[in-house]
Amino acid sequence: MSIKRTLSIIVLAASFLLAPLLTVQATGYNSGITYGPYLQRVTKKAATIIIVTDESAELTLHYKRVGKKWKTVTGDAGTMHNFRISNLKRGQTYEYYFSKDDARYTRTNTFRTQKKIRKNDSLRLVAVGDSGLLNEEALQVALQIKAWRPDIITHTGDIAYYSGTQANYEERFFPVYGSIIAESPFYGSIGNHDYTTDEAGPYKDIFETPTNSGTKDYYSFKSPFHIWRVF
Ligand SMILES: [Fe+2]
Repeated sequence: MSIKRTLSIIVLAASFLLAPLLTVQATGYNSGITYGPYLQRVTKKAATIIIVTDESAELTLHYKRVGKKWKTVTGDAGTMHNFRISNLKRGQTYEYYFSKDDARYTRTNTFRTQKKIRKNDSLRLVAVGDSGLLNEEALQVALQIKAWRPDIITHTGDIAYYSGTQANYEERFFPVYGSIIAESPFYGSIGNHDYTTDEAGPYKDIFETPTNSGTKDYYSFKSPFHIWRVF
């Protein structure tokens, strides 16, 4: 057996071993989590972290720059918990987790604020599209993205097949991408499938896109490259 063939078998075997792990991890760290946590609009000095719970709860977000002291912020009671944290430092790694009733509720995840790109610096940007179905191929793509640990994930649309319903997102998007977007900021855009349900109502409820256009249909942001998302 050639080395190349042996290697490809090892990679394939590893993928099959990891695939269920990825799904299990992303399904929720604790009972009662509908989906999340996930990162949105991570800039040089701010980030949004969202988590959704099955029942109304009061959650506390704990976050800190690596090597510094923990800070906490407690949100209002509800099911969708949206925390916008600011006064962060550029290009730094932060850790975060949630607690509920003084008990740890999620595992610790990390993310990095936007760094200043200097000459010869690299930025790892993923553009993925039509990720819609919870199948083996979708898992393989997601595993590759997870291994890259991208600075930014952009999605070209058709995020949750077949029709972008809330259930489609919960059953076919978050189980695959949940653990990835807990650590890499995700920038979606609306595909025709996503638009089918309530003109992308579920998409707009789930994702906190940049607000510079005054609508959630399209936007642009600097990453520091200028990126446009157009429906
Ligand atoms: Fe499509």
